[in-house]
Amino acid sequence: ETESSYFFISPDVPVAILKPRPKYAHKGTFGHALLISGSYGKMGATVLSARACLRSGVGLLTVHCPAVGYTILQTAVPEAMTLTDTENNFISQLPDLSTYTAIGIGPGLGKNPATRQMVKQLLATARVPLVIDADALNIMAEDESLKNALLPDSILTPHPKEFERLAGSAENDYHRLELLKEFCQKHTCYVVLKGAHTCIGTPAGTCYFNSTGNPGMATGGTGDVLTGIITALVAQQYSALDACILGVYLHGLAGDLAKIENGEQALLASDIIQYLGKSFL
Ligand code: APR
Ligand code: MG
Repeated sequence: ETESSYFFISPDVPVAILKPRPKYAHKGTFGHALLISGSYGKMGATVLSARACLRSGVGLLTVHCPAVGYTILQTAVPEAMTLTDTENNFISQLPDLSTYTAIGIGPGLGKNPATRQMVKQLLATARVPLVIDADALNIMAEDESLKNALLPDSILTPHPKEFERLAGSAENDYHRLELLKEFCQKHTCYVVLKGAHTCIGTPAGTCYFNSTGNPGMATGGTGDVLTGIITALVAQQYSALDACILGVYLHGLAGDLAKIENGEQALLASDIIQYLGKSFL
């Protein structure tokens, strides 16, 4: 491997990726995302992810959540359509997947055995790109056959602990990057390894480092926001790599704009969503 396989995401890169909205666009132009998310006590993760998805330009969003989430979602995110599971507290079923242009799964999911089965079935039947986060990754990590069932162009968004469960423990930061490249090449997927300098690994063994974000973002729910953003971009037909680059850059930039207004200590995941509009400009 040569040094040229590492890139830094400078501000001109996302500017070149971002597509303007055509004048005669309609909501069908911007895709229909499905978000599979939530369990009892963790519906906040679903709300954050759904709001971030809608603030990232998607045409339509449907959320599949446990029955307990119905009133929460319809109240907190009226722009999203809600499908409910037959289970009250966790997700046990897959909805019909035929109408969606991208699927995000994981925030607040939990690891009920029925939820595990649903994740397995999703990986086996989905025909559109998946954005896989949080407990969906933890479920994958506990079953080697699931990692090998990934469609090309799948995007995984682990934090370092989730990545360790998937790919094994690293001796140091450099070793973690080696593990990242190996994992992406072996499973032909994109991995967004989150942290202060989020690193995107590609199936070609290339790494892209993000340049935006601040320590105020080290607070619950900010990862759920990123999942919503990237899912929206994939639904709009951005390539997997462009969706990852644009997603992490705008997520961090929105966090930086939120910091100007709120400071690092008080920064909330919701503030990042609030500043997404300005970060897209
Ligand atoms: N500087 C810049 N960005 C940061 C920093 C930092 N110091 N610390 C964290 N971030 C960013 C990361 O890059 C990532 O995008 O904040 C986000 C944190 O994401 P997660 O670690 O996934 O945290 P979150 O999802 O909000 O946690 C909620 O979900 O994944 C589970 O185990 C997780 O239970 C937790 C829950
Ligand atoms: Mg997370």
